[in-house]
Amino acid sequence: MSDTNLSADDQKRIAAEAALAYIKDGMKVGLGTGSTAAHFVIALGRKAKDEGLKLTCVPTSEATDKLAREVGLTVTTLDDQPHLDVTVDGADEIGPRLTLIKGGGGALLREKIVAFASSQMIVIADESKVVPHLGNFPLPIEVVPFGAQATGTRILESGKLFGCDGAISLRTDEYGEPFVTDGNNLIYDWALGEIPDPDGLGEYLSRLPGVVEHGLFLGIAHAALIGKADDSVDTLN
Ligand code: 5RP
Repeated sequence: MSDTNLSADDQKRIAAEAALAYIKDGMKVGLGTGSTAAHFVIALGRKAKDEGLKLTCVPTSEATDKLAREVGLTVTTLDDQPHLDVTVDGADEIGPRLTLIKGGGGALLREKIVAFASSQMIVIADESKVVPHLGNFPLPIEVVPFGAQATGTRILESGKLFGCDGAISLRTDEYGEPFVTDGNNLIYDWALGEIPDPDGLGEYLSRLPGVVEHGLFLGIAHAALIGKADDSVDTLN
């Protein structure tokens, strides 16, 4: 038995480094957002420099854009490169069959658009993110500011149709002001505990006027690389 006991941050780092195996010269790469994705961006910048790789990267947030440029990666937009080879991103929860909750970092909209534009989405995470069912992490839902209160009421009503019961709260920033996304929208976090029917709920939320996007990523991820406390990385397919 290994006596190694990596911290959660080191588990994120080894998962991020394992994802470098998916990157080949000439690829177009989507870059996720969050602390795990940041490990990947830094490792990718180092690999591109050491091996002289020509990569074109599309970041999923202003924060990732800044970091990618700092580490010397070539950054462009999805409009310039509408088809990407692979996106590497973190997650807040990884449930059965690679179902995900994302958006803890507030970038779910761009993350979903970029993942959809990619031939493969590879998830990287520490082992605490793997869960038997989705919902313990509050589900982020991005809404337009107009009528946000009313949209919140519609969201709560939709929950009753799908066996979901829980409070929603408008996300705030470190100053107690409403958190504003890169797309100038707001985010509700919906504490559900368990989501019995993620597909049904996700489809319903997608049809609600005022909802821009929700953090259920279903049928999108191709593999998840899980960094573990014993210094190994598991691959989930
Ligand atoms: C950002 C996300 C992140 O991938 C998610 O919140 C995980 O973050 P971290 O890697 O910091 O644990 O979805 O919108």
